[in-house]
Amino acid sequence: MKALITGGAGFIGSHLCEYMLCKGDEVIVIDNLSTGRHENIKKFEENKEFTFIFGDILDKKSFDDPSLYDIDIIIHLAAAVGVKYIIENPVKSIKTNVKGTEIILEFANSKNIPVFIASTSEVYGKNTHIPLKEDDDRVSGSTGVSRWSYACSKALDEFLSLAYYHEKKLPVIIGRFFNTCGPRQLGDYGMVIPKFVRNALLDLPIPIYGDGSQIRCFTHVKDVIKAIYSLINKKECYGQVFNIGSDIPITISELATLIINLTDSKSEIEYIPYNKVYGKNFEDMMVRQPSLEKIKKYIGFEYKADIKNILNDIIKHMKENDL
Ligand SMILES: NC(=O)c1ccc[n+]([C@@H]2O[C@H](COP(=O)([O-])OP(=O)(O)OC[C@H]3O[C@@H](n4cnc5c(N)ncnc54)[C@H](O)[C@@H]3O)[C@@H](O)[C@H]2O)c1
Repeated sequence: MKALITGGAGFIGSHLCEYMLCKGDEVIVIDNLSTGRHENIKKFEENKEFTFIFGDILDKKSFDDPSLYDIDIIIHLAAAVGVKYIIENPVKSIKTNVKGTEIILEFANSKNIPVFIASTSEVYGKNTHIPLKEDDDRVSGSTGVSRWSYACSKALDEFLSLAYYHEKKLPVIIGRFFNTCGPRQLGDYGMVIPKFVRNALLDLPIPIYGDGSQIRCFTHVKDVIKAIYSLINKKECYGQVFNIGSDIPITISELATLIINLTDSKSEIEYIPYNKVYGKNFEDMMVRQPSLEKIKKYIGFEYKADIKNILNDIIKHMKENDL
C-alpha cells in the first residue's frame, strides 16, 4: 500500500510512519513542521519506501509532487493541535483545520483516493454522557469561548467528509481520538502528560488547571495506530465514524499523583484556576469516556496498554532523550 500521511512528522503521524514502513508499505509525508519535528522522521529517510515533502497542506502546490500520483490511501492527521496552541493561534488554527481538510478532500476526490480523517473526542463538547457513543449529541459552547473553535472545526471536517462520502461516493473514515499519548508527544502545546512527567522528573511543581476532578481516558499511541491501520484496511468501515481510545477513566489529580509516584519525584501538585492560564473565557470538558462498542464490533479493537504502561514508556523515553 502507498500512503500519504499528512502531519506525519508529528506525534501520532511519526508512530504511524514507523508502523506502516515495518509492514512493508510505502509512506509519503507532507508536514510543515509547525508542531511536528524533523527529528521524529529523520531515521525513516534512509528507507527508500519513505518520502518527506516539507510543505503546507494549505498550499495546493504541495500536492503536485510526482510521488503522490499513485497513492492508495490518505491518512489526514495534519491539524492545529493542543488547547494552548489553539487559544494562542486562533485564526491559523481554524484555517488549518477547516481549509486544510477541504483541500485534502478535494485532492482525494479528484483521484478517488480513500481518506482517513483524524477527528477528536472534543467534538462531543460539554456532553457528560458516559460512555460517549458516536451518534451522541455534540454540546458545544459559545463562540465567545475560543477553545470550542477546535471542536467546531473538527466537527465541520466530519460533516464535509461525510458529505463527500454520501454525495461523491468518496471512501472516507472518521476516527475520533480520545487522549492519545506516548513517547515523542510534546508538552509545549497544552498536552497534559508530557508536561506533568517532565516537571516530575525535574522535581518542579505539577500544575493542575482547575480542581483536578476532570476525567479522561488515556490511550497509548501504539494502540491508536494499530486501530487506524485496521480501519483503513476494512471496506465496511468506510462512511463511518469511530471512537478510538481506551475507556479506563482517571481524574487529572489521580494522574498527577501516579506520575509523582512512578518517577519517585519530590514535586508537589499546584492547583491553578483556569482564568490565570487561559484568561476569563475558558471552559473545560469535565468527562470524556468513549463507548468502544462500535470499533470492537467492526475491527475487534482491544487496547493493550494501561495508564501505568503508558506513563512508564513516556518516563523512559524522556529520561533517555534528556527532555
Ligand atoms: N494527540 C491527541 O491526543 C489527539 C486527540 C484528538 C485528536 N488528535 C488529532 O490527531 C492528529 C495528530 O495529532 P498529534 O497529537 O500527532 O499532534 P502533532 O501536533 O504532533 O501533529 C500534527 C502535525 O501536523 C503538522 N501540521 C500542522 N499544520 C500543518 C499544515 N498546515 N500543513 C502541513 N502540516 C501541518 C504539524 O507540524 C504536526 O507534525 C490531529 O489531527 C489532531 O487533531 C490528536
